[in-house]
Amino acid sequence: MFTYEVDEEISLKLIDEGDAETVFKLTDQSRDYLREWLPWIDMTTEIGDTRNFIKASKKMYAESKGLNTVILYNGEAAGIVGYNEVDWQNKIAYIGYWLGEGFQGKGIMTRATQALVDYAFEQLNLHKVDIRAAVENKKSRSIPERLGFQEEGKIRAGELLYGKYVDHVVYGLLKEEWEKMNASEA
Ligand SMILES: CC(C)(COP(=O)(O)OP(=O)(O)OC[C@H]1O[C@@H](n2cnc3c(N)ncnc32)[C@H](O)[C@@H]1OP(=O)(O)O)[C@@H](O)C(=O)NCCC(=O)NCCS
Repeated sequence: MFTYEVDEEISLKLIDEGDAETVFKLTDQSRDYLREWLPWIDMTTEIGDTRNFIKASKKMYAESKGLNTVILYNGEAAGIVGYNEVDWQNKIAYIGYWLGEGFQGKGIMTRATQALVDYAFEQLNLHKVDIRAAVENKKSRSIPERLGFQEEGKIRAGELLYGKYVDHVVYGLLKEEWEKMNASEA
């Protein structure tokens, strides 16, 4: 089973059926806050909806097309981070994430995302990591910005959020840029 120790507070655990209750609760308790930027909140009204998400995630993982993990913060489920898609042809991983409202502001997502960036380059030998966020979603945009991603451009009407189209900003980090950052930190 995939478990990744990020640091003494955070670990990432491959999502499975046993997480359905905690992940549904986390979603349900943060519904209003998550709804601002996540299009699937109104379609997640009962635990069965979270089970379907987990089932789809497991299928993607089994087919090497993606990876969703539960972020454990001091042992407690804090949110989800993962590769929504791995494009093996072009060696690109697309990262997506969310946190329960009470877990914001502690650097959890920045650290968890850094771990999946490292894993993509070190273990999966990918060439690029891509993160997209709505232009107005400042908290989400801060994550790739903190991790040294480059802003590559904007996609107009990249997402339909509850009847309103929002533009997306695309961030990318190439393997050679990541290697350079690691070398200068060493
Ligand atoms: C996007 C989202 C995950 C960001 O959460 P976050 O708490 O701001 O991100 P982090 O966990 O990385 O924490 C960063 C904050 O902790 C602070 N922090 C504390 N310790 C830190 C550390 N070790 N490293 C980095 N930041 C740290 C930072 O200064 C920052 O605070 P600030 O916002 O006041 O500047 C969250 O807002 C969310 O789930 N939003 C709704 C869903 C969503 O938008 N998903 C993304 C769709 S593209």
